[in-house]
Amino acid sequence: MTENALSPRGLLERWDSQQSAYVAHREQRFQSMLDVLRLHLSEPFHVLDLACGPGSLADRVLTAFPHARVTAVDYDPVLLRLAGAVLAEHGDRATVLDADLVRAGWAEPLVGQRIDAVVSSTALHWLSPSQLLGVYTALADLLPAGALFLNADHLRYGTGNDTLKALSARHDAEVQRASFTAGADTWDAWYELATAQPGTAPFVAERRLRFADRPPQPHSPLHFHLAALSTAGFAEVGTVWQYLDDYVVFARR
Ligand SMILES: C[S@@+](CC[C@H](N)C(=O)[O-])C[C@H]1O[C@@H](n2cnc3c(N)ncnc32)[C@H](O)[C@@H]1O
Repeated sequence: MTENALSPRGLLERWDSQQSAYVAHREQRFQSMLDVLRLHLSEPFHVLDLACGPGSLADRVLTAFPHARVTAVDYDPVLLRLAGAVLAEHGDRATVLDADLVRAGWAEPLVGQRIDAVVSSTALHWLSPSQLLGVYTALADLLPAGALFLNADHLRYGTGNDTLKALSARHDAEVQRASFTAGADTWDAWYELATAQPGTAPFVAERRLRFADRPPQPHSPLHFHLAALSTAGFAEVGTVWQYLDDYVVFARR
């Protein structure tokens, strides 16, 4: 073990405190998603976690619902490896799937499986508006009537909401300052720690190849997500949680 070697769960804990620096009320946001799953579904159910990272939300779902199954999807080999190690604690209730959400056909391995809910957090802002519509259309094809979609993410304010935009930016800066002062890792510091773990080098090289050409996308505002979900075929759309520009978007198939 090198000096910086951490267990998968230790790395996940460092990830959670790093992410909480960028998402002020992250645990409350997760809790709102777990509440909706509990209130709408009956166990056993199957949840798809899109862009699962190290398995943070999938782990919370599997812990909260001891008879649920989760399929956790991501495209970053470093994070997929960590998610696999963390979620292995839940045995065969967890499956990790390597898929690129911007590629047509990413959902093919899931066809024929019953999926009761799709969740995602702090991730879909990586997709362009047309890619988002593609993902929502694939989900509408995949999901049975009544199934849920819950997406937690910053949906930035645009022109016409200058005051809200400024307040949100000031609040983000305040929370980051306090979190980093209290010892949370920055995004870069966490990645450095993760890539320094024994056996990670080949996954880092593969990650570099896969994400070489992924520029940040224009922000899709809340009204875009709601319209895109309706257009894709979801019967009911809305929000279940909001704090400034941070939302949990809800849709029912
Ligand atoms: C900030 S992390 C969020 C991880 C986790 N959901 C959480 O909230 O802790 C964003 C995730 O989106 C994933 N991601 C970005 N683009 C993707 C794509 N095209 N296909 C699959 N995953 C993607 C990244 O690999 C990363 O794991």
